Amino acid sequence: MSTVTFRNVSKRYGAITALDDLDLEIGDGEFVSLLGPSGSGKSTTLNLLAGLISANSGTIHIGEREITHLPPEQRDLAMVFQNYALYPHMTVAENIAFPLEARKPRPDKDVISRSVERVAETLSIGNLLARYPKEISGGQQQRVALGRAMVRDPRVFLLDEPLSNLDARLRVRMRRDLKELHRQLGSTIVYVTHDQSEAMTLSDRVAVFAQGRLQQVAPPREIYDNPVNTFVANFVGDRETNFLDGVLEGDDYLTFHSGPVALKLGKRQLKNARQKVTLGVRPEAVAIASSATDGMRAEVILTELAGAELFVYLRLASGDEIGMRCDPREVSVATGETVNVRFDPRQIHLFDQESGQTLA
Ligand SMILES: Nc1ncnc2c1ncn2[C@@H]1O[C@H](COP(=O)(O)OP(=O)(O)O)[C@@H](O)[C@H]1O
Ligand SMILES: [Mg+2]
Repeated sequence: MSTVTFRNVSKRYGAITALDDLDLEIGDGEFVSLLGPSGSGKSTTLNLLAGLISANSGTIHIGEREITHLPPEQRDLAMVFQNYALYPHMTVAENIAFPLEARKPRPDKDVISRSVERVAETLSIGNLLARYPKEISGGQQQRVALGRAMVRDPRVFLLDEPLSNLDARLRVRMRRDLKELHRQLGSTIVYVTHDQSEAMTLSDRVAVFAQGRLQQVAPPREIYDNPVNTFVANFVGDRETNFLDGVLEGDDYLTFHSGPVALKLGKRQLKNARQKVTLGVRPEAVAIASSATDGMRAEVILTELAGAELFVYLRLASGDEIGMRCDPREVSVATGETVNVRFDPRQIHLFDQESGQTLA
């Protein structure tokens, strides 16, 4: 079994806590992304798992076996980095073969070449085996780096921002290929990225980090629809979530007030009764209201046409600025115009204003 379990794992560098009390279980064959901004502890987590650094406290297991203090080469993992780190003086075939050549005892020549061919076939780079790294594209180099990891047939793959050096289009294509590769191999993959769309499209589950702490771990849909706090709500999504600070009134039927803005939320059960809240709503949950009675007045500040979608910046009567994402074929508004907007009540999130934690 190639489950990975972190229990109470912490890593400090002097006064900096790079990773704070991590509890995380990754299932056998699961693709889990560690997602977060720069400096949030993602690489620290991966490097602890790889054995490149050691923890100050806590334990790490792969399957039943505790690996917390094992040297890297005894952990049966393969790691792929952002800068592919291919050997420039070796051909593609020699680069892929390298981990097997270094194995003691060294496997037979034809065993090695069969493994290299099989891996190259899977990655569709069979025709590049005789070339040198400088003779192939960045995307192909990344495949070779993946091949070098795959040839070891490890129990767990660790990938640290493996697509960051590729251009945007190629990144999207490699994403699809990685997903297909995972489907074929069925291996456990731990994938570090600061790119939320990469994490959301690739993963079975996403683990969101901020400041060395795991914030939430859940399938992409769950992370997107039910963020546990304002950080996750804002970090996940290709546009910022709109946040409004205000107060809640009413017992069963709640109304949210922010200055002159009043928003009926209907019947809601909240975990903690709080008066001061932050309301979060994604741009796609904002729409033009069909009538003035079920909407809020807002002034159009700016419109951005981005191909298939129209992004409209609005100012509410409270002074808050919000973004609305809509279909340019259905909505046409002009800067300076006053419109009525509404929030989809099913997509309104309420957070404690102080802690930022969800109240749902
Ligand atoms: N070798 C180190 N010495 C001192 N501080 C470090 C070291 N490695 C990482 N850190 C700090 O630990 C924190 C987490 O780093 P890291 O895990 O690399 O973040 P991420 O991969 O999410 O960008 C950061 O504040 C970083 O500056
Ligand atoms: Mg990193």
